[in-house]
Amino acid sequence: MDVIEAMETCSAARYLKPDPVPQDLIERAIYAATRASSPGNSQAWDFIVVRNPETKQKIRDLLAPRFKTMGVGAPTTGKVTRRMIAGAMHLAEMLNEVPAIIFVCGPVAYLPNAPMEQFVWSALYPAAQNLIVAARALGLGTTFTTFHMFMESELRDLLGIPKEIKFGVMIPIGWPQKDFVKVTRKPISEVIHWEKWSERPIEAPRQPNSLRDGPFSSRCT
Ligand SMILES: Cc1cc2nc3c(=O)[nH]c(=O)nc-3n(C[C@H](O)[C@H](O)[C@H](O)COP(=O)(O)O)c2cc1C
Repeated sequence: MDVIEAMETCSAARYLKPDPVPQDLIERAIYAATRASSPGNSQAWDFIVVRNPETKQKIRDLLAPRFKTMGVGAPTTGKVTRRMIAGAMHLAEMLNEVPAIIFVCGPVAYLPNAPMEQFVWSALYPAAQNLIVAARALGLGTTFTTFHMFMESELRDLLGIPKEIKFGVMIPIGWPQKDFVKVTRKPISEVIHWEKWSERPIEAPRQPNSLRDGPFSSRCT
């Protein structure tokens, strides 16, 4: 699978099989994460991989009830949003059965002489995105989550994470129960501004169906 196809079909996988994932595959996904760019090549990232059933159970027990009471499951009008919330609720409920949970975190380390928190996210998000795309290419399902925000202090105690280490993303990973689908995103015509900012980009003659089609492809619609 080429990288464009992996990006296009890297849909959030919130229904995961409990079947174990070989360590080698997790390491390959983290290898890909660590190929990401980072400010000044600071590489200020760390990956905590939780596979221990008791630890996963504790994380699940912290998360699931809080997730519910935050009202995240309130009825909404959109079908897509409803499906997403149902998926997130399912993932939170079943977190103990997910084969592994990866926490992407890191220190405030850049600039070396004047470290700034914003640069933490500049390092962690590209790494996390590389990780989920690589996992997709390996046939593994993931979801970018900020579930850690519901239980940060308890997670620090449970996983022994020092205060100075920031949480970026919490990524459950496993074999998907459902097929990957092409992600739905805005057409590029809605987001490209040629040469300068325009309230509504005017010049949008073509809308590639995918990056692979490219701006000059005859398959553009
Ligand atoms: C920073 C960030 C935080 C996210 N947090 C969550 C989350 O807490 N729970 C969840 O189920 N999905 C989470 N997502 C996944 C998005 O909801 C998902 O990518 C989006 O709905 C589009 O779905 P798709 O990627 O399957 O097309 C997060 C994504 C990002 C980038």
